[in-house]
Amino acid sequence: MTRRSVVPGQSWTPDGYARNAGFVAALGGPVVALLAPRRGEHILDVGCGDGVLTAKLAAAGAHVVGIDASPELVEAARDRGLDARLLDAHGMAFEQEFDAVFSNAALHWMADPARVMANIFRTLKSGGRFVGEFGGKGNVRLITESLLAALARRGVDGRQSFPWYFPDAEDFSDLLRRTGFMVERAELFERPTPLPTAIEGWLATFGGPFLARVAETERPGLVAEVVGDLAPKLRGADGVWRADYVRLRFAAIRP
Ligand code: BEZ
Repeated sequence: MTRRSVVPGQSWTPDGYARNAGFVAALGGPVVALLAPRRGEHILDVGCGDGVLTAKLAAAGAHVVGIDASPELVEAARDRGLDARLLDAHGMAFEQEFDAVFSNAALHWMADPARVMANIFRTLKSGGRFVGEFGGKGNVRLITESLLAALARRGVDGRQSFPWYFPDAEDFSDLLRRTGFMVERAELFERPTPLPTAIEGWLATFGGPFLARVAETERPGLVAEVVGDLAPKLRGADGVWRADYVRLRFAAIRP
C-alpha cells in the first residue's frame, strides 16, 4: 500500500488492511518476479505496509529493510520478524546502501514524487534496480468520480481531497530519467481488482480522505449513495465487486 506520507483523513489498521485490502499483496507476485530478488542482496521495500510482500523478498534470501509511514503497519510488519522502520520516503537518507529498491502499491501516496525519486536514487548502489508497481493514470476513476459527486450533492468540493499521484507511463518515465535513472520498462495496464469485502470494505480502508469531508453522522448515507451509483458499473453478474484499478509497472536502473 506508504507507505505513505500522512494524508488527511487516511488511517491504517492492520486488521482492516488485511481484511479489505489483502489483495494488494496477493496480486503482487508479478512485480516481485520482475524484481527477481537474489540471495544475499540488500533490498529496500518502500511502503512495506504490513510486510506481506517484504516477507516474500526476505524468503528469497535477501536482506530486506521495509519502511512505512504508518506506525500501525510497521508494527504489523515487525510482528512478522521483519526489519521494518517507521520512515517516510520523503525524508529517508540512505546513501548507496541497497542493491535494489522495491515498491508495491505505495508510490501513489507520495505527495512529492520528485523528492521521493531523488531519495530512492541516492539509496541505490551504482547498477542498482528500482522495480515497482502503483496506481497509474485513470486508477479508481469511477470510484473517485462517484465520491466527488456525492460530496458535491452536499455542497462540498472534494477535489482538494484527492490524495493520490497517478501518472501515465510517459510522465513517470520522464521523472525517472530526470532523476538520473535508466528506464528499462514502464507500462500502464488495466487490472479490474476483485474486492473481497465489496466496495464498502474498500471505502472503509481507502475512502477516508473523501469521507472525512462530511460529519461522521452523514457518512453512512454518503457511502450508501456511492454503493448504489457504483453497483451497475463495478459489480459483476457474479455478484463480485471489481475496483477499476489501473497499474503502472516499471523497472529502472541507477547507472
Ligand atoms: C491502489 O493500490 O491503486 C490504490 C489503493 C488505495 C487507494 C487508491 C489506489
